Amino acid sequence: MTDVDVRPLAESEYRPSFDLFLASLHEPQRTGDERWQRSSTRYEPGRVFGAFLDGELAGTALSMTSALEVPGGAVLPAAAVTGVGVRADRTRRGLLRGLMRAQLTELRERGEPLAVLHASETRIYPRFGYGLGTRSQRVQVARTHAELRPDAPIGGQVRLVDGPAAEKLLPELYSRIAAGRPGLIARGEGWWTTRLAGTVENGGALRVAVRSDDSGTDDGFALWEPSKTDHHFGDGSIRILVSDMHGADDAATASLWRFLLGLDLATSVIAVDRPLDEPLPWWLADRRGCGVDRVDDDLWVRLVDVPAALAARSYGAAEPVVVEVRDPFLPQNSGRYRIGPGGAEPVADAPQLGLDVDVLGSLYLGDVRPSTLAAANRVEVHEPSALAAADRLFAAARPPWCGTQF
Ligand SMILES: CC(C)(COP(=O)(O)OP(=O)(O)OC[C@H]1O[C@@H](n2cnc3c(N)ncnc32)[C@H](O)[C@@H]1OP(=O)(O)O)[C@@H](O)C(=O)NCCC(=O)NCCS
Repeated sequence: MTDVDVRPLAESEYRPSFDLFLASLHEPQRTGDERWQRSSTRYEPGRVFGAFLDGELAGTALSMTSALEVPGGAVLPAAAVTGVGVRADRTRRGLLRGLMRAQLTELRERGEPLAVLHASETRIYPRFGYGLGTRSQRVQVARTHAELRPDAPIGGQVRLVDGPAAEKLLPELYSRIAAGRPGLIARGEGWWTTRLAGTVENGGALRVAVRSDDSGTDDGFALWEPSKTDHHFGDGSIRILVSDMHGADDAATASLWRFLLGLDLATSVIAVDRPLDEPLPWWLADRRGCGVDRVDDDLWVRLVDVPAALAARSYGAAEPVVVEVRDPFLPQNSGRYRIGPGGAEPVADAPQLGLDVDVLGSLYLGDVRPSTLAAANRVEVHEPSALAAADRLFAAARPPWCGTQF
């Protein structure tokens, strides 16, 4: 087999790497200058890797600087991994494996204890230590059923803003309000530049609404695009596709929903990436008007530095448990850890539970209980009483949610 050579790319190689990535997603093979101009902001020096076969670039992966909120409220440096692709005629030769190894090794050296990503396919990343850490849901509301109950939160103002105003307002607004829930991540400048491209591309299909509270402080926003089928006033439909919505609190989020559900001529509102515990059905007069048509895997979480990541989150009240973690891809992480209400530390004691590091990624933010994964034979139980304790230790006060695509 030909050797795979993986190295960080030079700036001059970023655009070919972007084209390669897009082609791997079956998008057009060459991007226009304007799209590249915006996307180039995601390419941070030292964070872009290329995999070469016979001296030719055939695979790529990058990470953006970010941070992840973990249970207890700590916000840890986290690499947001994206731009992963291998040329269609060079797949299944170990290029992704080489890229993942180089990237995770480099992230460890950088001192970033966590890596996160969204997966195109669920079977790809567990072998590299990523576990499904948060889920989200897609919600549909028919406008004929969109009346809110009189006791649903009310107040504040919602206004439309244009693209340039959104570019100024939203980065600060998001970083101020996106807190208080595990799974929320930091959005860098490069993220926003590409996210808001739709406000100018395609004639500005992407709309932006900003909510402010009764004192005039901005505290929420929503991004959406209308999708029309041959609408002749009564014939056809206009669907409002909401791709990004964050509120500082329930009142802000309820206002944004109220605004979207009140848009004239719309037949339905469809929102992706919503948290599983959003109170929307409880705000509606007719809760059957609101349907969840899918629950998606949201953020995949990789503990790059297991002791540092375990020590940084808080744990519920229960007897401490000794967990054996296996990490064949980054063997420095393999070991036994005592996890208790006071924190987590490496120990030499006999393990009560055993698991692979991707399973730890799934438990880390509290989305799934250890006992559920034991039922799936993903957690080995050496001491049965430890399982109920682990359920209480890993539980998060609030279900985790990310709500940021990258
Ligand atoms: C997914 C992709 C990057 C994999 O690259 P690759 O170079 O073929 O992967 P590798 O040869 O290094 O495979 C490593 C292992 O993962 C497995 N694997 C790779 N892609 C897989 C997939 N899509 N589904 C299941 N297993 C997969 C391989 O079989 C191999 O398994 P092994 O360790 O048991 O041998 C590549 O197929 C691709 O570019 N796909 C389209 C774009 C895409 O989905 N990108 C990811 C965005 S999140």
